[in-house]
Amino acid sequence: MADTPARFAPGATIGILGGGQLGRMTALAAAPLGYRCHIFCPDAESPATQVCDRATIAAYDDGDALRRFADSVDLVTYEFENVPADTASVLQDRVLLRPRPDILAICQDRLREKATLNDLGIATAPYAEARTAEELARALERLGRPAVLKSVRMGYDGKGQVAIARDTDPAAAWAEMAGSIPGAVGIVEGWVPFEREISVVVARGAEGAMVTYDPGENLHTNHILHRTTAPARIPETTAETARITARRVAEGLDLVGVMGVEMFVTSEGTVLVNELAPRPHNSGHWTIDGCPVSQFEQHVRSVAGLPLGSAERHSNAVMTNLLGEEVHGWRTVLAEPRARLHLYGKQTVKPGRKMGHVTRLFPRTAW
Ligand SMILES: Nc1ncnc2c1ncn2[C@@H]1O[C@H](COP(=O)(O)OP(=O)(O)O)[C@@H](O)[C@H]1O
Ligand SMILES: [Mg+2]
Repeated sequence: MADTPARFAPGATIGILGGGQLGRMTALAAAPLGYRCHIFCPDAESPATQVCDRATIAAYDDGDALRRFADSVDLVTYEFENVPADTASVLQDRVLLRPRPDILAICQDRLREKATLNDLGIATAPYAEARTAEELARALERLGRPAVLKSVRMGYDGKGQVAIARDTDPAAAWAEMAGSIPGAVGIVEGWVPFEREISVVVARGAEGAMVTYDPGENLHTNHILHRTTAPARIPETTAETARITARRVAEGLDLVGVMGVEMFVTSEGTVLVNELAPRPHNSGHWTIDGCPVSQFEQHVRSVAGLPLGSAERHSNAVMTNLLGEEVHGWRTVLAEPRARLHLYGKQTVKPGRKMGHVTRLFPRTAW
């Protein structure tokens, strides 16, 4: 079902499900365009509620609170894709949701995500479903090793994932994955011997117009994004393939909003899609400082039905996440003239927790 091209003029209230840093940066981008944001999230002390016009603090399954929230806003978007299906359906009965909840459902399920991509003619790692250790062993015979076993649902930052090497016992791998996410269904993926990991943020407006940002190159440490370098150090032909791929995904899903498309690039220049995130993406934070219009403003523009803005990169940028105790280095960051500090206002420091990021700007030249 195609989204209706509804438009919401400045002055409207955008409801955002989720109170994390992505919601915070979306609300910060909505303000200069004259929108108000109403955040719905379970924690009173969240990054987004600190910067919004209004907040509802309630559980995602609190139907009454959801209905009141829906009635108080002009449209709803979200800052994480694991919105429970029931939450989305309560809201959808009363208010426009962008992107559409069926896109959420696809991105919440790694099997559906890959099948949808393959149906659109977009290449991914080879994969198979596994519901038991025996099915995992059979899948490995077909896909070969190395491979990776992931929980189909609820995984992020490498959670619910087990690497399968030449000598890994399938039963042990299964037990490890199923132990971290009870009742999990598994997806086994052939290991992609990638040369680089890149991502493209694509924005698609309510009437189908699209813009893509230059691919960023992502470096993960302990499965958490550590650094994005923009532009990615790949040939222009590969960058163009990546941008076209992201557009095909956005168009194929009839997306209204912003989506992060994670990809692997092999040494032959083949681009495979790894994961989709139907929201602003951590690897797109550099666009706040490196482009005229950031991914967050683009998200607001698309869901509000406004024209999109320029995604052209005016500077090269290196975005580094400030994880856990690294946040205490803020003073050193501020001493660098071309570093832009973004803190998320989180009070409790935990190892690996995303506390903020810093974007370092460089002249727009080839690296
Ligand atoms: N099939 C694969 N081949 C090679 N590396 C992979 C594969 N799947 C995942 N990885 C590595 O693990 C990381 C996390 O996996 P991903 O599927 O993106 O899950 P998450 O939801 O945790 O981000 C990827 O960024 C990549 O480095
Ligand atoms: Mg990922």
